[in-house]
Amino acid sequence: MSTFDLPVNHSARTNLMASTTKKVVKSPVLKTSDLSTIPTNRIVTLDEFILRSEKDFDYATGELTGLLRDIGVAAKIINREVNKAGLVNILGVADGSENQSGDTQQKLDVYANDRLIECLQNSGECCAMASEENDDIIHVPPVGSKQSHYVVMFDPLDGSSNIDVNMSVGTIFAIYRRKSEADGPATLDDFLQTGTKQVAAGYVLYGTSTMLVYTTGRGVNGFTLDPSIGEFCLSHRNMRIPENSQTYSVNQGYYSKFDLEMRRYIDHCSDLNYGLRYIGSMVSDVHRILIQGGIFLYPSTRKYPKGKLRLLYECNPLAMLIEQAGGKALNTSMKRILDLTPQELHQRCTIAIGSPAMVDELQAFIARYSALPL
Ligand code: AHG
Ligand code: MN
Ligand code: MN
Repeated sequence: MSTFDLPVNHSARTNLMASTTKKVVKSPVLKTSDLSTIPTNRIVTLDEFILRSEKDFDYATGELTGLLRDIGVAAKIINREVNKAGLVNILGVADGSENQSGDTQQKLDVYANDRLIECLQNSGECCAMASEENDDIIHVPPVGSKQSHYVVMFDPLDGSSNIDVNMSVGTIFAIYRRKSEADGPATLDDFLQTGTKQVAAGYVLYGTSTMLVYTTGRGVNGFTLDPSIGEFCLSHRNMRIPENSQTYSVNQGYYSKFDLEMRRYIDHCSDLNYGLRYIGSMVSDVHRILIQGGIFLYPSTRKYPKGKLRLLYECNPLAMLIEQAGGKALNTSMKRILDLTPQELHQRCTIAIGSPAMVDELQAFIARYSALPL
């Protein structure tokens, strides 16, 4: 007897259908790790990803989720403006203004800064922020009865001198939990925390495509903006930096101003025919290194004896991200960037960041040559 000849039990069949229709389909608890079950050809937007990730945190209240989404929105607005920079008359230097650190401000710096401040202020998800372009911290008036537990720091447009020549620039951000009580105003101490206290950090790269790359301390993921739908879509899952590479990135024009140990390391790279790549926009150089491996160096020079880059807006967020991807980030005294105690908002520091084997190799050079007389 074939299966087709089996007697049909109509009542059993009806019962089965009834139980199927009545059955409540429970949605699974979504976690970041569940992404492995999602086919790679299915689009995962930044919003979906952030919401899934929120469920990985026991203390999640939605504030961090809100902040990351605010930054995503600001990034899209900045991206639109950066993309048409060549078409409109907002290129060039803003009227005579220099920022707190003495660098000339570009007009798009001001634009990007204003948009980020606006987006973060509107939602009231953070209680205060600090920007490379502002001398002091910016307090956020509470929205409704919301008490916010976070502060945000950012470099609104990194590498902005590259805009006039149509090169890549970026936005770098870091999010911390405040130390002060949530019912009072934020204080400077909320910002002067070590990089290990960052709860999230990342960057947006306005390059040939626009990418948002971030970490909340559980690996690094990258999202590419699909302009046709206006969404950041997951394109780089669980990014890992190559262990080693044969490419270094430094402004070698300052060679004679570097300390002996740094010059010896650069000689070594050159002797071994390592490739030199330097865009002059840290976020772009670090992005390349995250994907292809290498080391980025900004040591002390005569002009910048403590280094040029800012600890809070540039070095800490990129150090967290690179460490999360398996890399290392030290200053040229071989201290871990994330362990440095900030003394002031606009503090500068030296940096060596990238593939772990290359940072280790540099460390060996510094140990060997720094003890020698000049
Ligand atoms: P910013 O545009 O935010 O001031 O940052 C520029 C920084 C960094 O992005 C880059 O790596 C570095 O300055 C380049 O400095 P040099 O021109 O001295 O190499
Ligand atoms: Mn910068
Ligand atoms: Mn900047």
